[in-house]
This record gives sequence, C-alpha cells and structure tokens, in this order.
Amino acid sequence: MTEKMSFIKKLTISAKEGTLFKKSNTVSPVSASKAVSHTGSQSNLNKASLPSASNGAATSPSKPSPNTQTLSATKQTESISQDGSMIIASVTTRGVNPANAPPFKPKQKYNFADLSIDRTLGTGSFGRVHLVRLKTTGKYYAMKVLKKNEVVKMKQVEHTINEKNILEKLDYPFLVFMLGTIQDSHNLYFILEYVQGGEVFSFLRRSGRFQNSVAKFYAVEVILAFEYLHIRDIIYRDLKPENLLIDSKGHVKITDFGFAKHVPDITWTLCGTPDYLAPEIIQSKGYGKAVDWWAFGILLYEMLAGHPPFYDDDHFKLYEKILACKPKFPSHFDPNAKDLVKRILTTDLTKRYGNLKAGVVDIKTHKWFADVEWQKMEDCQVPAPYLPPCKGEGDTSNFDQYQEDHEPYGVVGPDPHKDKFIGF
Ligand SMILES: Nc1ncnc2c1ncn2[C@@H]1O[C@H](COP(=O)(O)OP(=O)(O)O)[C@@H](O)[C@H]1O
Ligand SMILES: [Mg+2]
Repeated sequence: MTEKMSFIKKLTISAKEGTLFKKSNTVSPVSASKAVSHTGSQSNLNKASLPSASNGAATSPSKPSPNTQTLSATKQTESISQDGSMIIASVTTRGVNPANAPPFKPKQKYNFADLSIDRTLGTGSFGRVHLVRLKTTGKYYAMKVLKKNEVVKMKQVEHTINEKNILEKLDYPFLVFMLGTIQDSHNLYFILEYVQGGEVFSFLRRSGRFQNSVAKFYAVEVILAFEYLHIRDIIYRDLKPENLLIDSKGHVKITDFGFAKHVPDITWTLCGTPDYLAPEIIQSKGYGKAVDWWAFGILLYEMLAGHPPFYDDDHFKLYEKILACKPKFPSHFDPNAKDLVKRILTTDLTKRYGNLKAGVVDIKTHKWFADVEWQKMEDCQVPAPYLPPCKGEGDTSNFDQYQEDHEPYGVVGPDPHKDKFIGF
C-alpha cells in the first residue's frame, strides 16, 4: 500500500462469471479506465465499483436463479407504462421520508421544464449525479443520470431495474431516499434527496484516518442500515467510502443501489469493488448477505487505518491477497476494533461474524461497541462527530469539481432501448 494509492477512488467493474482469475479477462466487458473516461471525472481520481455479469445466474443455465421470478413479478406490478416523453414515469407511492427528505409530490408528473439542472456532484462507473432544483418549490435534489446506451452496453439493464425497484421501497434514516424516476429517449434519471456533506471518502482522505469514535459512529449507522436491508432480504454489494455520504447533521446516508438485489438465499453475480470483494465472490461461489459483512470489515479497517487491508494494482494479486486473508494491523489500531475486524474478515463462512446463528447481534454486542446506545443511534439522538460545513440548502462545496461535459437532458427522439426500460 503506497500513500499515493490510498488516495485513489475505487472503481466498480464488471466481470463475467468465472473470469476473475484469468488475468486477461479480469475486467470484462468494460475496463475500469474506460468507465473513468466515460464519466469524465478528474484524471487523478480512479473511481468506480466492481461488476457484474448483470445476469450472473441467468448466463449460467446450469445454475438455478431463485430470485428471478420474484424480481420480475415485482417489476410487472410496479410498472407504469410510459410514452417515452420526458416525464416522471414512476414516483414512489410511500410519500416522503419525514425526517430526511424535503417534500416532492408523489404521483405527480413533472418534466424537465420544472427542474433547473445545476453542477455535477459526483460520477461513478455508470452514472453522473447532478444537483437539481425544483422550480416550483425551490427545493434541491440530487439527480443520478444513466445513459441507456451505456447501461445496455455494460449489461446493466437488470441491475438498473433492481436499483429502481429497491430504492422505491426504502425509507430509513441512513439510506438515501428516492423521490422518483424519469426517463427520456437517451437517459434514465433517479431523483434522490440531496445529501449535502459530501462523501465519507473525501472526509477520510482529508483526515488520513478516523479516530476510533468517528469510525465507530459511521460503523454503527452502516450496521443499522445493513440490518434494515438484510431483514428485507436485500444485499447491498457495493459498500465503500465513495458510496457513503454525510448529511447536513453529520449522519451517514448510503447511496448507490446499483448492485443491490433482493436475495432471499444465494446469488452468483460477480459484482462489487475489487478491494471490497468477499472471497466467496472471487471464487465464483454462490454467496449471500455475508458478503456485505465482509465489506463492512474492509470498511472498518479502511476507516481506522486510512487504507484498505488488501491492496494491489494488479487485480489478480489483489484477489490472491484477499483469499490469503492475512490483514496487517498498524500498531495504533484499537485492539477491540482489531478483534472485530478479524472476526469479520474470515474466509470461513461458518466463523464470520454477521453470518453466524445470532446474525448481526454478534457484531452489535462485540466489545468494541460496548459504549454504543443502539436505539439512540437509530433515533439520531447522538450528536455526530463531524458536522460538514453547509452554507445553505444548495451549497455544493463539500463535493469535488467535475467537468460538465454531459449531453443535454430531456431529449425527445427515437429510443432504441424503449422496450428494456418500460415502467422505469
Ligand atoms: N443523493 C446524493 N446526494 C449527493 N451526492 C450524491 C448523491 N448520490 C450520489 N452522489 C454522488 O455521486 C457519486 C456517484 O453516484 P453513485 O450512485 O455512486 O454512482 P455510480 O453507480 O456510478 O457509482 C457518489 O459517489 C456521490 O459523490
Ligand atoms: Mg458509486
């Protein structure tokens, strides 16, 4: 781990099943560098998550795909047909999250004339996120834009539908809240609550590493969020500091549900971010919720050390290090935190904390969390360790600058991919 590498954002990449260990095919079908040039972000930031053969199970007929039926059923019932014009085709029916989201009228249709599009807040492998303002109310939101062409080319159609179907069901303080979706002939749009404080990634890189109390605060909120998701059989699959945002009161909001999936038992798709991949994903085994706990162990280590436990420029070597699973702990690392990380970062699934009989309880009752008042934390009654500077509702100073080289939004015209996104 070099000092330089620890400052680089991590790429989400896509790989077909069983290809992770073939060097030439490590990143397939889309190379990480291609994803970066597509997003047009700063050259020194090499950001994105790992992959997916979007239909991991589907591409392998010999393997069962227990979740496909459930997902398509959900899709059918929740689809609202739309005519391809630039209107919000589907809006969450649950109303808004009273604690965290400004009002955005559900079931009402808007068009791009109602939105003023502001600067880019972030880019990832697949999307660009803008600050937008609803002209009628003056409220600010974040708008994630995905190009239909890219989504199709990168085999992310199923994941993008999952992202929408899952986001519209979520309402929890530590998860980003979605207000609605839009599509036009070129793009798909998610309208999300705007989380002002920037990425945990930026705060962590500025800080070098977090003090115990800071890491613990964020860790607790991520655990609670994962507990909420896992009870609903949703695996998140892309935990990393780049996907953790800090709200104006200093609480965590997990964003980017691009790889989230309803998985009651196991799934096979290779997706995530290389540094955060659980051994069972690398080994192309069927895997379940335990991969989120593995990623949580990596996050905890990264927050306390300032860099991930396993790192190598060469993905092949990185995966070997993950499988060997011998993290080295800096001398400053809190002994209790070290004990917890070691109990989570274990390749043996029958020993991994979070995956044992007691589930999340083993983690919540670990001695590193002895001073945590879980209910108070869930109720946001504990003051956050860091309040991001916010000069007003539309302040974007906590986000990096990006080139604004995107195409116009709200374009009406021929849509060769219309059939793939019906109901989005
Ligand atoms: N709701 C939001 N509020 C503010 N910024 C956001 C929001 N959602 C995403 N972002 C920013 O945009 C970046 C890219 O969004 P993300 O959903 O992670 O896309 P990708 O799937 O391409 O990684 C995030 O890392 C974050 O910086
Ligand atoms: Mg992301």
